[in-house]
Amino acid sequence: METSVLKVDPTNPESDVIGRAAAVIRSGGLVAFPTETVYGLGAKGLSAEAVAGIFNAKGRPSTNPLILHVSDASEVLNVAADWPATAQTLAARFWPGPLTLVVPKRDSVPHIVTAGGPTVAVRCPNHAVARALIRAAGVPLAAPSANRSTELSPTHAGHVLKGLNGRIAMVLDGGRCSGGLESTVVDVTGEIPRMLRPGLITVPMLEAVCGRVEVGAKSEGVARAPGQMAKHYSPRTPLALCATPTDALTSAARARAQGQNAWIMAPDSKEFDQLDEGADILSALPERYGAELYDVLHMIDGAEHDIVFVVLPPDTPEWAAVRDRLTRAAARE
Ligand code: TXA
Ligand code: MG
Repeated sequence: METSVLKVDPTNPESDVIGRAAAVIRSGGLVAFPTETVYGLGAKGLSAEAVAGIFNAKGRPSTNPLILHVSDASEVLNVAADWPATAQTLAARFWPGPLTLVVPKRDSVPHIVTAGGPTVAVRCPNHAVARALIRAAGVPLAAPSANRSTELSPTHAGHVLKGLNGRIAMVLDGGRCSGGLESTVVDVTGEIPRMLRPGLITVPMLEAVCGRVEVGAKSEGVARAPGQMAKHYSPRTPLALCATPTDALTSAARARAQGQNAWIMAPDSKEFDQLDEGADILSALPERYGAELYDVLHMIDGAEHDIVFVVLPPDTPEWAAVRDRLTRAAARE
């Protein structure tokens, strides 16, 4: 299959471009589109057959449920059997935006979307292209990140093509994603909301509007996020996590002395002031670091490094999403 790439204005999407993409979706095809987090791979969310195409194109295990994307909070009742008060509160505060809510599903949602489970994940993205596409398609879009399963998430159209060229009908190229990390996933089916995947919306931000939030998946059930499989979001190059800049500098020097092509990736700090090569120094601000992360990892994968020493940012709520993705990127299985 030939993948068509259509440029689209990220703030004022052209209606003819959106119309062409929506026609592909309505006919059961796959369209990758930008959101404020990462590129999504969209299909008609209430069609089991169209959604099967997503699993096939990504090589995604069928045990891993998908997010349904709506263009407005009023559409959730088409897919959610119940909309708990916490969901209402969180959506009112954070939608449209990088927050996914897990709620009881309606019968109209095919089992393939929810991996057979009784709940469905929904999100209203804060991106004009995503919302225009959902509106024009006239149905919620099932959309995982637009990458092959276990590989790095895409933050621009070039990343999507690296993994999916020839496997999907269309890519809407709306430039770079501003957020750069996948949405925060919160299960609101229980008494206390539970964050299943950290993202740009942090625990303190959630707790400020809905009180105490628990963190991490319960040990049983299908609702385990793939974020809980150790290896995920992974580059091919081996990454070694380091607690401090000094550790990374020492380890890289040792590896180089043994003839290895070693590289460093770290948030900016004074230890790296003198360093002008052999490293990718990212922002010391969590949101900016998050926006750069996948692009840097994609570039690292394009280079010929034997190993990359990655300095973990501090263990604080603002850095939780970045630490989570780095830890999974470093996992080998
Ligand atoms: O920012 C994002 O969330 C992006 C953009 C495209 O919206 N999408 C994304 O989708 O990251 P994906 O499929 O790569 O990740 C979806 C996450 C997984 O961790 C999955 O396990 C979890 O949401 N999830 C989906 N349905 C769930 C459910 N019913 N219960 C618990 N977790 C669920
Ligand atoms: Mg993903």
